[in-house]
Amino acid sequence: MEQYVIKGGAPLVGDVEIGGAKNAALGILAASTMTDETVLIENVPDVRDTKVMMQAMESIGVIIDHIDRHTIKVNGRNIRSQIVDGDYIKRIRASYYLIGALLGKYKSAEVTLPGGCNIGTRPIDQHLKGFKALGAKDAGVVGGGMIVAHADHLKGAHIYLDMVTVGATINLMLASVMAEGQTIIENAAKEPHVVDVANFLNCMGANIKGAGTDVIRIKGVERLHGTEYTIIPDQIEAGTFMFAAAVTKGDVTVRNVIPKHLESISAKLIEIGCEIEESDDAVRVVATGRLDHTHVKTLPYPGFPTDMQPQITVALGLATGTSIVTESIFENRFKYVDELIRMGANIKVESSTAIIEGVDKYTGAGITAPDLRAGAALVIAALAADGYTTVDDIRYIERGYEDFDTKLRNLGAMIEKVDNDRDIQKFKLRVG
Ligand code: UD1
Repeated sequence: MEQYVIKGGAPLVGDVEIGGAKNAALGILAASTMTDETVLIENVPDVRDTKVMMQAMESIGVIIDHIDRHTIKVNGRNIRSQIVDGDYIKRIRASYYLIGALLGKYKSAEVTLPGGCNIGTRPIDQHLKGFKALGAKDAGVVGGGMIVAHADHLKGAHIYLDMVTVGATINLMLASVMAEGQTIIENAAKEPHVVDVANFLNCMGANIKGAGTDVIRIKGVERLHGTEYTIIPDQIEAGTFMFAAAVTKGDVTVRNVIPKHLESISAKLIEIGCEIEESDDAVRVVATGRLDHTHVKTLPYPGFPTDMQPQITVALGLATGTSIVTESIFENRFKYVDELIRMGANIKVESSTAIIEGVDKYTGAGITAPDLRAGAALVIAALAADGYTTVDDIRYIERGYEDFDTKLRNLGAMIEKVDNDRDIQKFKLRVG
């Protein structure tokens, strides 16, 4: 099984190119199946989640041409089935976007219940409520884990979401875009990837207004057409490298980003003592001394993202004094803290709060990535730790980070992907 082996201690220095946003790509891939014309999509990140999504699309007859590593042409003209099943589909949570897309286009969808990161119970009641309001009266989970939704006719509706949910907001945009009349989604998520999916649908001829605010209005159109579109940069990949710079006392410029999307992350880095320089499409993070403590609570956009919570916890674990991190989106997102404690962190978790007493250093250990973002955060901890760390289950990290080890190595990190003990020994001999 593949692992990362890491020797800590090298500050990260240099430039890193950020790829396309995974969570936007997943919505956009589903949306691209909703026209019979060809769609060209650029800046698709080459990560496991997008690969699984494309595999699911191909399994129902979508034709995907790979123009280069990050550019694809999609054609959904020959979709022969509205049933997406198979065990592999459980590997990604965003498979549920195929429900919205297939329901919106064919008024019929059956998709195996999603998996994804194990960070707490992840209900889909808001998605189902919305599908029902649009006319899919049977929307629900049946027979051991299929989500089904069928409608004779989809009609616009006024939908109030009980909580801010990215998944339901995107799914309901997909399902309603060709419904008769107007749909209003209230308490909508405002994340950059919600806006990107809406922009993409509008390029395909949809009429969506208000994405990026908490009220989205969708006027149904008869059909969608082909388009060419470039996916926005990944806010979380960028944020992860920014925190890697902070934790290793480095100097890293993340390039090809939208600095506005990174504001909550930059603000926290400034608070804990980093210098931030912004330009049009880049952000430079410089960290010199020890980081300062702070308090942070995860919130929907524009608040501090839950997907950056493990990375900031790793940073605060090395900061002066006491810091408090409160997770308000997912109930079980501190599981990785046990691994961090094995590396020497002093952190107590009480339900949704982590109380962190900063320590001087982490120490290398054999650890396991529990999920995507926590896995990346533990790699950052290892980059700053004394000695060697091995990270197991890196398949989680590869769900959402393209060439993570290569990008880190290019910044001076001592990290290698290995799959046997001999290679670990070779790495140790090489880096000393
Ligand atoms: C998406 C992101 C994920 C990110 C999260 C929050 C994708 C593929 N994943 O996940 O990386 O961490 O947004 O920014 O884009 N909820 C319900 N009922 C529902 C839907 C959600 O109770 O029907 C709850 C969830 O349990 C959670 C909160 O709402 O507590 C937010 O979830 P949501 O925004 O939907 O997250 P995802 O779309 O799953």
